Amino acid sequence: MDDMISITVVDRDGSEQQIDVPTDINLSLMELLKASSYDILATCGGMALCATCHVQILAAADSLRSPSDQELDMLDTLPDADDDSRLACQLRLTNDNDGLRLKIKGALQ
Ligand code: FES
Repeated sequence: MDDMISITVVDRDGSEQQIDVPTDINLSLMELLKASSYDILATCGGMALCATCHVQILAAADSLRSPSDQELDMLDTLPDADDDSRLACQLRLTNDNDGLRLKIKGALQ
Protein backbone atom coordinates (compact mmCIF):
# COMPACT_ATOMS: atom_id res chain seq x y z
CA MET A 1 0.00 0.00 0.00
CA ASP A 2 1.20 3.51 -0.75
CA ASP A 3 0.67 5.12 2.63
CA MET A 4 2.08 2.32 4.77
CA ILE A 5 5.67 1.85 5.86
CA SER A 6 7.42 -0.69 7.99
CA ILE A 7 9.86 0.22 10.75
CA THR A 8 11.77 -1.90 13.24
CA VAL A 9 11.88 -1.02 16.95
CA VAL A 10 14.49 -2.47 19.30
CA ASP A 11 13.41 -2.12 22.93
CA ARG A 12 15.73 -1.47 25.89
CA ASP A 13 15.98 -5.23 26.56
CA GLY A 14 17.05 -5.94 22.98
CA SER A 15 13.70 -7.38 21.88
CA GLU A 16 12.83 -6.39 18.37
CA GLN A 17 9.54 -5.80 16.61
CA GLN A 18 8.56 -4.73 13.13
CA ILE A 19 5.65 -2.30 13.03
CA ASP A 20 3.53 -1.30 10.05
CA VAL A 21 2.81 2.41 10.18
CA PRO A 22 0.23 4.40 8.25
CA THR A 23 1.80 7.64 7.03
CA ASP A 24 -1.37 9.51 6.13
CA ILE A 25 -2.13 10.51 9.74
CA ASN A 26 1.02 12.55 10.41
CA LEU A 27 2.19 10.54 13.42
CA SER A 28 5.41 11.36 15.19
CA LEU A 29 7.68 8.47 16.04
CA MET A 30 7.07 9.22 19.74
CA GLU A 31 3.28 8.96 19.27
CA LEU A 32 3.71 5.72 17.38
CA LEU A 33 5.90 4.20 20.11
CA LYS A 34 3.43 5.17 22.82
CA ALA A 35 0.50 3.87 20.78
CA SER A 36 2.42 0.60 20.37
CA SER A 37 2.70 0.28 24.18
CA TYR A 38 6.40 1.05 24.47
CA ASP A 39 7.54 2.60 27.71
CA ILE A 40 8.17 6.22 26.71
CA LEU A 41 7.53 8.93 29.28
CA ALA A 42 7.32 11.86 26.85
CA THR A 43 6.65 14.13 29.81
CA CYS A 44 6.84 17.30 27.74
CA GLY A 45 4.23 16.02 25.31
CA GLY A 46 6.45 16.34 22.26
CA MET A 47 7.95 19.81 22.74
CA ALA A 48 11.62 18.69 22.60
CA LEU A 49 11.98 19.69 26.26
CA CYS A 50 12.31 16.42 28.22
CA ALA A 51 14.42 14.06 26.06
CA THR A 52 12.63 11.01 27.48
CA CYS A 53 11.77 10.07 23.89
CA HIS A 54 15.47 9.59 23.07
CA VAL A 55 16.06 6.97 20.37
CA GLN A 56 19.16 5.77 18.55
CA ILE A 57 18.70 5.43 14.80
CA LEU A 58 20.24 2.14 13.62
CA ALA A 59 19.29 2.23 9.93
CA ALA A 60 17.82 4.62 7.36
CA ALA A 61 18.90 7.70 9.34
CA ASP A 62 19.29 9.60 6.07
CA SER A 63 15.54 9.28 5.47
CA LEU A 64 14.92 11.65 8.39
CA ARG A 65 15.02 15.40 8.21
CA SER A 66 17.95 17.07 9.95
CA PRO A 67 17.50 17.91 13.63
CA SER A 68 16.58 21.45 14.63
CA ASP A 69 18.86 23.47 16.90
CA GLN A 70 16.38 22.91 19.72
CA GLU A 71 16.55 19.13 19.25
CA LEU A 72 20.35 19.20 19.12
CA ASP A 73 20.52 21.34 22.26
CA MET A 74 18.30 18.89 24.10
CA LEU A 75 20.32 15.87 22.90
CA ASP A 76 23.45 17.64 24.14
CA THR A 77 22.12 17.38 27.69
CA LEU A 78 22.02 13.56 27.54
CA PRO A 79 25.08 11.68 28.78
CA ASP A 80 24.30 8.68 26.55
CA ALA A 81 23.49 10.57 23.35
CA ASP A 82 25.58 9.94 20.26
CA ASP A 83 25.72 11.11 16.64
CA ASP A 84 22.86 8.78 15.77
CA SER A 85 20.60 9.96 18.61
CA ARG A 86 17.30 11.70 17.90
CA LEU A 87 14.21 12.80 19.79
CA ALA A 88 11.33 10.63 18.60
CA CYS A 89 8.81 13.43 19.13
CA GLN A 90 10.56 15.54 16.51
CA LEU A 91 10.31 12.91 13.79
CA ARG A 92 7.16 12.89 11.67
CA LEU A 93 6.90 9.58 9.86
CA THR A 94 6.54 9.81 6.09
CA ASN A 95 6.72 7.37 3.19
CA ASP A 96 10.46 8.10 3.01
CA ASN A 97 11.01 6.39 6.36
CA ASP A 98 10.27 2.86 5.22
CA GLY A 99 12.93 0.56 6.67
CA LEU A 100 13.75 2.83 9.59
CA ARG A 101 15.33 0.91 12.46
CA LEU A 102 15.77 2.38 15.92
CA LYS A 103 16.55 1.55 19.51
CA ILE A 104 14.65 3.06 22.42
CA LYS A 105 16.98 4.80 24.88
CA GLY A 106 14.81 7.33 26.71
CA ALA A 107 15.03 7.51 30.50
CA LEU A 108 12.21 5.88 32.47
CA GLN A 109 12.13 8.55 35.17
S1 FES B 1 8.58 13.99 24.25
FE1 FES B 1 9.78 15.37 25.42
S2 FES B 1 11.49 15.67 24.17
FE2 FES B 1 10.29 14.30 23.02
